[in-house]
Amino acid sequence: MADLKENVGVKMVRKDLENLPQFALPFGYSFRAYRDGDEEHWLRIQRAADRFNKITPAWFDQEFGPDRGPLAERQFYILNPRRTPVGTGTAWLSDDCPEHWPGKIHWLAILPEYQGRGLGKALLTLLCNRLRELAHHGAYLLTSSARVIAIRLYSSFGFLPLIRNADEASAWKEFPLPLVLQSESLSSLLAPDPERYFPNSRKNVEAFS
Ligand SMILES: CC(C)(COP(=O)(O)OP(=O)(O)OC[C@H]1O[C@@H](n2cnc3c(N)ncnc32)[C@H](O)[C@@H]1OP(=O)(O)O)[C@@H](O)C(=O)NCCC(=O)NCCS
Repeated sequence: MADLKENVGVKMVRKDLENLPQFALPFGYSFRAYRDGDEEHWLRIQRAADRFNKITPAWFDQEFGPDRGPLAERQFYILNPRRTPVGTGTAWLSDDCPEHWPGKIHWLAILPEYQGRGLGKALLTLLCNRLRELAHHGAYLLTSSARVIAIRLYSSFGFLPLIRNADEASAWKEFPLPLVLQSESLSSLLAPDPERYFPNSRKNVEAFS
């Protein structure tokens, strides 16, 4: 699948956590929550999966802070049948809102050799369910326009682009139509009026901005 020429940082939102798609892990795989020492697995997986960032050991603390307490209920790993972590993602807290709304889908990654087997869908299911269990009333995520497979996955879970500036609007227009036209939410991006991107958009945009 061809990547886009530019890689513009973008934001996607899901205004509620109702009617979430539910995908289970393939046979033989399992989830477990963060435990001491998983920083090493997180770094290994992110470095292998992420083609756009040069991830250093300091990133874990930068992203999740020095307190490991919340990770035990928010960060998850997918274990392969030999119980080696091959994927990770975090049902994290919002950068901006001190209260519990919305939650953040943070640092989803599957080792390249394990991609395309349904692990990402199962992990995103778990993370969205977890945010709901933890009383978040919506979710958002930050990604970038060249991550075509990720954007397609997120849109299939009902995440909508939240356009914050002209670069983002332009990036979404460039999004390859064959990948997005199946989704009513993303096809509506072609509409020139932001009000048409989101029903009740003014409320949503303010809430998520
Ligand atoms: C995004 C990512 C987590 C998806 O994980 P995954 O395990 O490959 O996803 P799944 O196997 O569950 O597939 C999800 C969808 O993507 C499609 N897909 C996965 N890999 C694909 C590929 N190489 N080419 C085309 N489609 C692909 C699947 O067919 C599926 O779509 P479908 O439901 O219509 O069949 C994974 O690609 C990844 O780690 N990417 C690199 C890191 C990254 O960019 N993370 C996102 C940061 S915001």
